[in-house]
Amino acid sequence: MAIRSILHYPDKRLREKAQPIDVVTPEIVALIEDMKETMYAAPGVGLAAPQIGVALRLFVIDTAGDDEPSELCVFINPEIVARDGEVLWNEGCLSFPGVHEEIDRAERVTVRALDERGRAFELEADGLLAVAIQHENDHLDGVLMVDRMSVLKRRLALRKLQKKQAESANA
Ligand code: NI
Repeated sequence: MAIRSILHYPDKRLREKAQPIDVVTPEIVALIEDMKETMYAAPGVGLAAPQIGVALRLFVIDTAGDDEPSELCVFINPEIVARDGEVLWNEGCLSFPGVHEEIDRAERVTVRALDERGRAFELEADGLLAVAIQHENDHLDGVLMVDRMSVLKRRLALRKLQKKQAESANA
């Protein structure tokens, strides 16, 4: 297992449309292990493969709090088949360090995907898990949180990001 480096906006690889995974090979299983480790080390609630420069339709999510047992979910070739309700959620993204902004999302989603053993499952989610699924699923299509902000909010968010990047460059 290894911690991979996370791409930050405006890296062009974050804009690629990711490709489906045909078979869950040992290489894919190893990739999933790296993604879990990278997400927990960050730490983050979710991580999509394109964020580590791998253009495959795969993401991992764990919505458990610090003192709670792991609730890790692996989504391979996910498809959101139903969306219901509306919610405004304060989101962050490991590719936008220092940026937190309210984004419009569906309140509940139904998602179909394969798990890390290649078995199909369907999951109905609400709350943080529903938001995380929508956020990570966007990454697979090269869609980023700034794309879902108003022009004004996007400008402020990108200014915060630049400030954070300048700080870490000087650190
Ligand atoms: Ni993200």
